[in-house]
Amino acid sequence: MTNSITIRRPDDWHIHLRDGDMLAAVVPYTSRIFARAIAMPNLSPPVTTIEAARAYRDRIIAAAPADHGFTPLITCYLTDHMDGEMVRRGYAEGVFTAAKLYPAHATTGSAHGVIDVQHIYPVLEAMQACGMPLLIHGEVTDHEVDIFDREAVFIERTLKGLVADFPGLKIVFEHITTAEAVDFVNDAGPLIGATITPQHLHINRNAMFAGGLRPHAYCLPVAKREKHRLALRKAAVSGSSKYFLGTDSAPHVVGAKEAACGCAGLFNAPHALESYAMVFDEEGALDKLEGFASLHGPAFYGLPVNAGSVTLERADQQVIAQCDHGALNVVPFHAGETIPWRIANVTYA
Ligand code: DOR
Ligand code: ZN
Repeated sequence: MTNSITIRRPDDWHIHLRDGDMLAAVVPYTSRIFARAIAMPNLSPPVTTIEAARAYRDRIIAAAPADHGFTPLITCYLTDHMDGEMVRRGYAEGVFTAAKLYPAHATTGSAHGVIDVQHIYPVLEAMQACGMPLLIHGEVTDHEVDIFDREAVFIERTLKGLVADFPGLKIVFEHITTAEAVDFVNDAGPLIGATITPQHLHINRNAMFAGGLRPHAYCLPVAKREKHRLALRKAAVSGSSKYFLGTDSAPHVVGAKEAACGCAGLFNAPHALESYAMVFDEEGALDKLEGFASLHGPAFYGLPVNAGSVTLERADQQVIAQCDHGALNVVPFHAGETIPWRIANVTYA
């Protein structure tokens, strides 16, 4: 039995770091472990300009402890009225690492998102030409479509057409939750990758209704049936370079979750890497963790791998019920559970 594993320092290719006091509260959980993170742009107002992206990057760097050597990677929030030349310039200047497509009203902070992908075709042309990745929240927003089917329907209605129209565009299908998404990514060419969250590897949709309504198991895309969870686990541990780590950690204060209309999002940053390690261990694939966490993402984005390392060891760890940030308390994923892995050491150089 493997009781200790050391991997290159990982990156988180999808996270919500928020802003202001919440940013200050949550960024150290991530910067302590991960060398880089793709910071989602769904702030209020969203990050739609080069200036806003530069300023956000500076605020994240200021909030992260300097000795963590943390590099935030900023994304551009696409709207129907985006200027492709501005997006291209932001990428060329190293301010935008990628652009994020939120279908309008698909999720938290997506009200300014894209109503029809045809509207951003000129932007996608520019991105394809310069090699800039498109990150997609892959759900249709049509309320006639059952919420558990919205990802699978998005593949048929939108994603297949997009890939056909832009065969040279790098696309990350973010936080995939279905067997259909796994099939799609497996069958697609090397320019199509996907991130997988820890929660979608651990829970199925029953978790939201276990003995009552469980707001802390609710995120978007919503967890699906067990067969989908199993397909995601198989993809994550497969060793395929198409799959990489993206936590989608999305903190909301406890009162915003435990409400009549609770916000979508799980806060998994405090123990994300241990949570993934648990899955890879259960699948007998700890040797595949480094690829998923630390190698496949940099290869997809064309970035160097990190210099530091993280050592995990097999040891029980009790997860606290709430992360205490004064007025901004947040319930972490796995709250109250015992995780059988813990972080033993991190080297930053
Ligand atoms: O559950 C989610 N929360 N899904 C998203 O797509 C957005 C995120 C958030 O920003 O809270
Ligand atoms: Zn997200």
